[in-house]
Amino acid sequence: MNPTGYPELDALLPRLAAIAAHDPSELEAERIAILGRKQGALTHALRGVPSLAPEERKRFGAEANRLKAAFEAAFAERDAQLQGGARTIGDLDLTMPGRGRWIGALHPVTRVVDEVVGIFRELGFAVAAGPEVETEWYNFGALNFPPDHPAMDMHDTLYLDVGNRESGVANRESGVVDRGARVEGSSRHPIPETRHPIQESRLLLRTHTSPVQIRVMQAGPPPYRVVIPGMVYRNDPWDASHAPAFAQIEGLAIDEGIGFVDLKATLTHFARRFFAASTRVRFRPSYFPFTEPSAELDIECQICHGGGCPACKQTGWMELLGCGMVHPRVLENCGVDAERYTGWAFGLGPGRTAQQRFDIPDIRLEYGGDMRLLRQLAGPGSR
Ligand code: FA5
Repeated sequence: MNPTGYPELDALLPRLAAIAAHDPSELEAERIAILGRKQGALTHALRGVPSLAPEERKRFGAEANRLKAAFEAAFAERDAQLQGGARTIGDLDLTMPGRGRWIGALHPVTRVVDEVVGIFRELGFAVAAGPEVETEWYNFGALNFPPDHPAMDMHDTLYLDVGNRESGVANRESGVVDRGARVEGSSRHPIPETRHPIQESRLLLRTHTSPVQIRVMQAGPPPYRVVIPGMVYRNDPWDASHAPAFAQIEGLAIDEGIGFVDLKATLTHFARRFFAASTRVRFRPSYFPFTEPSAELDIECQICHGGGCPACKQTGWMELLGCGMVHPRVLENCGVDAERYTGWAFGLGPGRTAQQRFDIPDIRLEYGGDMRLLRQLAGPGSR
């Protein structure tokens, strides 16, 4: 506002300019000090107008009222700014560091699962899922575990005391593979008579993803090419390389004319796609009741690259997965013609694979839910 030409009014002009930066309490105090009915400086000036000479009264009165209107407008504007949250630059400390935002990251095991599944998808594999609560028949019997075989000792788990349900009921939880799985009265792929002490319908927490092989094969005719990620449960120690609840990824490929050479070629391709293209691999003979022949696939230790280190127990090799040609009896258990169809399967532990990929010395860091691990590893997969 331009000067009024009256010193007592012009003395208030700096205070008019300062209103735009007042906080709410300063604003209220200034409103009273300028416009207050008893002691307001401008009120006081206006109160003297009637006693002025007529000509002066007119001129002074006009200037004082112009100043009053300017103060009222400035107070109203500042009120609106403070209430509406609109800030002038005067409110902002532009040097203050911004508040960090935790945007989350994929868990290393999830990253491995996604990557493994992605590689097999490129090769034409579909993704299937099955229930974590299984029957003994799916978890052991259909997979050709012989009665009381020591292989079952390594698969101790929690049994669920929910009555003697028929096998197949637990199916309800399962995903795509569930359709067509055995239901009472179905003659399609009848479950064979119990040949061993395994109680077919006893419910347990599955110890591996292999029972989903059975569900996939029951759901429809061959060929099958699927990968099956999921959680599994075992009475295993909680140590650097074991967890009682851990992830697995199963793979199954069944068709006419599939042989061990296909298994070797596909899994070697997978290992070199997942790790470095030059990674050395080896197949070691092994035993699983549901595959014959069976093997373990080892990869060159990713830490010492074959030289020997504590992580690979000085061998230069690290186990990646178990695999083998699907046992004909497993195919027959699912109603698949074992004379016509052959194929292979594998089972991989993404927790241990994540240890190798991200150099995590202890699997408990992965499954322990420690956020500091996620923060450290939040890499390209983070979101
Ligand atoms: C099996 O579970 C077989 N079902 C795999 C298979 C499938 C073989 C199809 C042949 C054909 P195994 O018990 O070795 O096999 O477990 C497979 C992988 O799971 C292991 O290589 C390991 O990476 C992981 N694993 C096993 N036990 C644990 C555990 N307690 N904690 C974390 N990972 C484990």
